[in-house]
This record gives sequence, structure tokens and C-alpha cells, in this order.
Amino acid sequence: MSIMPGAMLGLLGGGQLGRMFIMAAQSMGYQVTVLDPSRDSPAGHVADRFLCADFSDKTALRELGTTCAGVTTEFENIPADSLSFLAEYCIVSPDADSVAIAQNRIMEKQFLVTNGFPVAAFAVIQSGNAVSPDTHPELFPGILKVSRFGYDGKGQVRVSNKAELDAAFSSMKGESCVFEQLLPLRSEISVIVARGFDDELSVFPVAENRHVQGILDVSIVPASVPREIIQQASEATIRVAEKLDYRGILCVEFFILADGRLLINEIAPRTHNSGHYTIDACMTSQFEQQVRTLCGLPLGSTKLLSAAVMVNLLGDLWQQKEPDWKQVLQHTNTKLHLYGKREARPGRKMGHYTVLDTTAEAALQQALRIKQLLSENTN
Ligand SMILES: Nc1ncnc2c1ncn2[C@@H]1O[C@H](COP(=O)(O)OP(=O)(O)OP(=O)(O)O)[C@@H](O)[C@H]1O
Ligand SMILES: [Mg+2]
Repeated sequence: MSIMPGAMLGLLGGGQLGRMFIMAAQSMGYQVTVLDPSRDSPAGHVADRFLCADFSDKTALRELGTTCAGVTTEFENIPADSLSFLAEYCIVSPDADSVAIAQNRIMEKQFLVTNGFPVAAFAVIQSGNAVSPDTHPELFPGILKVSRFGYDGKGQVRVSNKAELDAAFSSMKGESCVFEQLLPLRSEISVIVARGFDDELSVFPVAENRHVQGILDVSIVPASVPREIIQQASEATIRVAEKLDYRGILCVEFFILADGRLLINEIAPRTHNSGHYTIDACMTSQFEQQVRTLCGLPLGSTKLLSAAVMVNLLGDLWQQKEPDWKQVLQHTNTKLHLYGKREARPGRKMGHYTVLDTTAEAALQQALRIKQLLSENTN
């Protein structure tokens, strides 16, 4: 049964991914109610209706579930119990079980290993720390990652010996962690897949991602990696969605190692920053696809209409004054997206721009020139 335009949809989370979901939903004739604990949020600003409440507030969840035909998420740290609770009232995508796995690095790693997906060598550290270069030589140097609530490289510490690992673990305040080997990366890619309630699957073109200090900086499409890797990554992403019996939009982040091996880094049970290029460069954006999967509509084509490079705009750019947007807007092949956040903090994702061109290389050169000019303007 499909949810048709005109219906009210529900969204858990008020961030920019939610804002872009709402814009896609509204342009197809849907209305959206947002539930978020913060009164001032990028998605809250454009929602048809806003419920200011905690994600586990039963009264607010019941209100959302009884007034919306379907509910989705834009934030992976929604309590899984809230999703099961909502499922008693309306359609929910993604479901509680998938989100429970993806939001916890320990469960995520165990799911991946159990199902035969290659991941970095790792150890779980729960309380006390029995891991050292003597017991686990392959893990040093490594990265300690908190099992829950990490994002944009937060909750991660690089360590090279036992003393540093102990200090890093103490800084996690008793939270359980995953400690993984620091890998020699050749590059990073991500794949976004949509899987509908009728099992229909659709994969977006693979993006190549460059990070700076653990935060996504630039996504390049098409990715400049061998065809076999693209194929392997796309197939692995589909298998992850199938193994989770996932419904909705899912992103799998991959590492490509110096020796060419492909490993899964992590799974995001939602639309993804590396898929923002789809808004301007694909027949269907990841956000429209999210609407389509939630509403039980046929999935849209993910055809790439142009090579594209997306650049994140972080709060650091605002240090002195508002950036000079003419540097972006004067180019007829460049699209500016700002999320309406009032406060620009260093490292905070404030917006992005996408450069479209005939080749990824040409788009990248232009995107980097614009980036340089924007940063010069703030100094
Ligand atoms: N084991 C590793 N070896 C080498 N680099 C790594 C490793 N783990 C993470 N990184 C680097 O740090 C980045 C962020 O790591 P990860 O994806 O685990 O963090 P996150 O906080 O969940 O980030 P996000 O929410 O932005 O995806 C990776 O994209 C990669 O560039
Ligand atoms: Mg990541």
C-alpha cells in the first residue's frame, strides 16, 4: 500500500539531512512533521509541523505515529525502542533492528564479521584494557573509537602504544569502544542503496571521499577507482542491505587499502553527506529516494547526469564574517546549499556546494579553486 502525495510524513531528527528530506518530500506534495529536542534546527525551520521533544518521549512519539502515515529518520542515534514504539502506529523506515546495529560500532562490527564482510582488524574494549602491543601487535598503531554517539571523527583517538591507549580509553568515560588497526588507505569510497518494502533495490553511483581531520571534505563522482572495485563495493552494499533486511536508504563507507583490498569501514542507516551530489547530479536525489522508499512508491532512476564534486562548508570559514558567496554563485555550473544554521562553530557542517562538469577531474579543479578563494576571503 502506498502513501500518496498530500499525506503527512514524520521525521526523527532536525539536522541538515532532515532539511533536505523535507524539501524533497514537499516538492512531491507531502507534508512533514519533525520531532527534535532542539527548538532551533535546520529541518525544524522548513517543517510543516514541529514537535519539540526528546526522541524517547512517548507522548510526542504517539502524536507523531498517529498523525503521520510513515516515519523516517535522519539521525542514526535515535533510540531503537522509539522506532519499535512508532511501528505500532504507522510505517517506519528504517526499522529498529537495523538502526540498533548501525548505531553501535561493536554490534556493527560483529554483524559485518558474522556475515563475512571484510573489516579492519579490531578488538572490543569494554572495561579495563587488556590490549597491548604484546597481546595484539597487529592493532598498533590504531584508532580507538567509542562504540556509540561518535560522528565526524569525534569520539576517536589515534594511539601508538599501550600508555596512549589507556589514556584514550580513560577519556571515553567508561563507554565501551572498538580499537582498530590504523590502515594504510589508498582512498575511501561510499555507496548509497535504497531498498523498498517490495524488495526493489537501487544503488547510487559510487562516491570517492576525502576527509580532513576525520570530517568529510570532498566527494568526487564518478570515483576514480577500478571498475572491479566499483562493482565489488556496490554488490557488498546490496548484500549488507539484504542481510539487515533493510528498508530505506543506507550508506556503506569503504576503505581501499594500498594493496587494493576493499574493507567496510561503517554503515549509516540513513542518507549520507557523501550523497549530497545526487541532488544536483542524479536523476533522483538520495532524499527523493528516501521519500519513495518510505511511501512505497517505485524507486527513481539513480542515473548520473553529470560528473560532480561536492565540497563541505564547515563553520571554520565563518571565523571573521559571512563567506563571500559570489565565489560560488558566479559559476553557472556550481550549486550552493546552506543549511540555515545560526551559529558557525569550527568543524560544524554549515552547507556544501557542488560543481558539475564533463569530467570529475575538471569539476575537482574548479571545486578546489573555489575552496581556496573562499578561505582566502575569510582571512
Ligand atoms: N582504521 C582506520 N585507518 C585509517 N583511517 C581511518 C580508520 N578509521 C577511520 N579512519 C579515518 O577517519 C575517518 C572517520 O572515521 P569513521 O568513519 O569511523 O568516523 P565517524 O566519526 O563515524 O565519521 P562520519 O560520521 O563522518 O562517517 C574515516 O573516513 C577515515 O578517513
Ligand atoms: Mg565514517
